[in-house]
Amino acid sequence: MRRGLTALPTALLICAIGLRRYSPNLGRRNNRGTDWDDRYLTGDGPPPPPTTTSTSTAKYFWEREGSSCIHVDDVCGHGSGWFYGPSSGHREASLHQPSILLVQNYSDLIETHIYLDGLMIDGRIRFSVNSSSSTTRHGNYDDSTCSYSPVPNHLVVQSAYNDMMGEFYSRTILGLNRWMRDFPTSSHEDVQTYIHFIDRRKGRILEGHELFLGGLPNNGIFDSFAALMPKNDTCQCYERLIFCGYVVKDGITTTSMIDADEGTIIFAPGQSITNPKTDKLDWRDAGDKYRILRTELIDTYSRKWPDLNERIVQYQKRILIQRGIILNDDPSDVIDWKIVGLTHRRARRVWLNIDDVVTTCNEKFRLHRIVCITINVEAAKSAEEQLLMHRSLHAVVGVHGAQLTQAILLPTHAYVLELLPWVPYYLWGEWVTTTHVPTPLGVIFTGTDLNHVGHPLGRDSVPLCLHVNSSDVEADRLCLMNQTSGVMDRFRWADRDYIVSPRTIEEFVSTFLLNDDDTICDEMRKRAERTSFVLYNAFCKSGGSPSTFIAQQYYREKNWMLPKKPHDMGQDLMIEKLNEGFLRKKRYPTEMQFK
Ligand SMILES: *[C@@H]1O[C@H](CO)[C@@H](O)[C@H](O)[C@H]1NC(C)=O
Ligand SMILES: *[C@@H]1O[C@H](CO)[C@@H](O)[C@H](O)[C@H]1NC(C)=O
Ligand SMILES: *[C@@H]1O[C@H](CO)[C@@H](O)[C@H](O)[C@H]1NC(C)=O
Ligand SMILES: *[C@@H]1O[C@H](CO)[C@@H](O)[C@H](O)[C@H]1NC(C)=O
Ligand SMILES: *[C@@H]1O[C@H](CO)[C@@H](O)[C@H](O)[C@H]1NC(C)=O
Repeated sequence: MRRGLTALPTALLICAIGLRRYSPNLGRRNNRGTDWDDRYLTGDGPPPPPTTTSTSTAKYFWEREGSSCIHVDDVCGHGSGWFYGPSSGHREASLHQPSILLVQNYSDLIETHIYLDGLMIDGRIRFSVNSSSSTTRHGNYDDSTCSYSPVPNHLVVQSAYNDMMGEFYSRTILGLNRWMRDFPTSSHEDVQTYIHFIDRRKGRILEGHELFLGGLPNNGIFDSFAALMPKNDTCQCYERLIFCGYVVKDGITTTSMIDADEGTIIFAPGQSITNPKTDKLDWRDAGDKYRILRTELIDTYSRKWPDLNERIVQYQKRILIQRGIILNDDPSDVIDWKIVGLTHRRARRVWLNIDDVVTTCNEKFRLHRIVCITINVEAAKSAEEQLLMHRSLHAVVGVHGAQLTQAILLPTHAYVLELLPWVPYYLWGEWVTTTHVPTPLGVIFTGTDLNHVGHPLGRDSVPLCLHVNSSDVEADRLCLMNQTSGVMDRFRWADRDYIVSPRTIEEFVSTFLLNDDDTICDEMRKRAERTSFVLYNAFCKSGGSPSTFIAQQYYREKNWMLPKKPHDMGQDLMIEKLNEGFLRKKRYPTEMQFK
């Protein structure tokens, strides 16, 4: 994500300027032909003059500067295209409607939306409307076949890698949530949401998407942007279509696109939904934005499901019954038990010995009323079930990846143990195992009322080259990094299956979950220091009087627990690492925050 993020402020600025020019209503553009903003961007010119479109009159978040949102009013889809409808009586009939075109340019998008296997843009997604001042206005509108959606606002959201839950959480949900709360529409029912997936192969809405979108103010109906495309057999009109996560390009296409004096507004997918309140130049600096986001999402779920707490207890009870821990009619209190979920994946980064670890954990801790179970978000059949699954747990353990994003929904004081893949100095990917700053994933837990703990896995977590004496670092490296034998493909952290010593989980449970009453910050810090854990975020008592809970970060040194680079490391080795990094980068041009 490093590269993506250094690029972000630029994208943000370009976007803000695009929006200043076109806000609040695309139909009332001004400042055309001035170029002071470009000079301002490069620092050569004077500061920008005051804008004529005052934001203080902006009523909705999509009319705000910096929102990376734009909107069109009164638009219909039918057959193969989009067109402006009649102003449905309640808007000024004279409102000028612009020509607007969504471009998905491969060579631009490959910079920000590349995947392991390249990029396959979803060609079904097309959006272009011709200026309403053209003579063809309403030509396609027919009262008998066209109808307006009863929901006034239809919101399309886009961001890079939004098929990955962590990326979706920080690039779409974070900024969008802030906008929607700061500038609410008149009712939650007013907004219906669609996700624009750039890559056709990733274009599936997952329960996780619905879960996180479900925590925002909207009517709870979600679909993909592809599903909103015009149909041959129906004509559907929308009072307002809002696009968030886009950049407006200052491009004007050929005059055949109508309205020579105005040109066509061109917009394109951007990297994220920006918001000055949640964007920071340093993405590792979480501030309190993720704490606020988590609180607001959970508040919304509780409002939507007033019986949520009762259902969580039922869910916990079912877990305990299924494992024969309590009987159906057993009056014993579910509340006494702590449930630890070990995350199970079916493909890539598979926890190979998870069953053994669960068994050992239960043998050891059942007497202490701690039960370990495997959890799999992919097995949850609905967003609601994912929510129940996570709100029922007292701790989640897993390797960097999708499941840990949902851990943001754990109850207050719960623990997240992130297992850090073993990435020695000669392998690319150390950015995912940091211990001196939060991990890319860990940023979303920073400052929250959750405890986020990390444990660097060692060489023994890697079930490869077992015939080699691993104390012989050089022999080990040659075997692991061997491309000819195919070992290297299984050694790359993102694809590597792993083993976790049952002792690690034992140590975690006894250090943190058995000592639950002891939540003084200093005590927690000391406890963690004596072990092999890094306490990225501790929600603990300050120890002052009166003692209040605060979020504290106790990082470790850089590359703590990793084999140190030998001083005599040869030049060729450096080159090998660089090459390998380069190979990886060709596949992942940005170091993604989540994967
Ligand atoms: C796509 O973007 C590239 C680079 O920005 C540009 O050179 C090219 O002309 C664009 N292609 C189209 C079809 O607009
Ligand atoms: C816009 O107008 C041009 C020129 O008349 C036409 O070729 C094109 O199909 C129109 N596009 C839409 C979406 O109606
Ligand atoms: C709509 O009709 C056109 C022309 O008849 C056809 O090519 C296209 O495949 C149809 N689209 C859908 C979604 O049915
Ligand atoms: C493994 O290698 C280390 C260091 O090279 C050596 O000291 C040790 O004796 C070796 N162990 C075995 C079992 O060969
Ligand atoms: C890499 O693997 C190939 C095929 O198994 C083997 O022939 C070769 O000796 C290995 N290279 C090293 C440096 O271990």
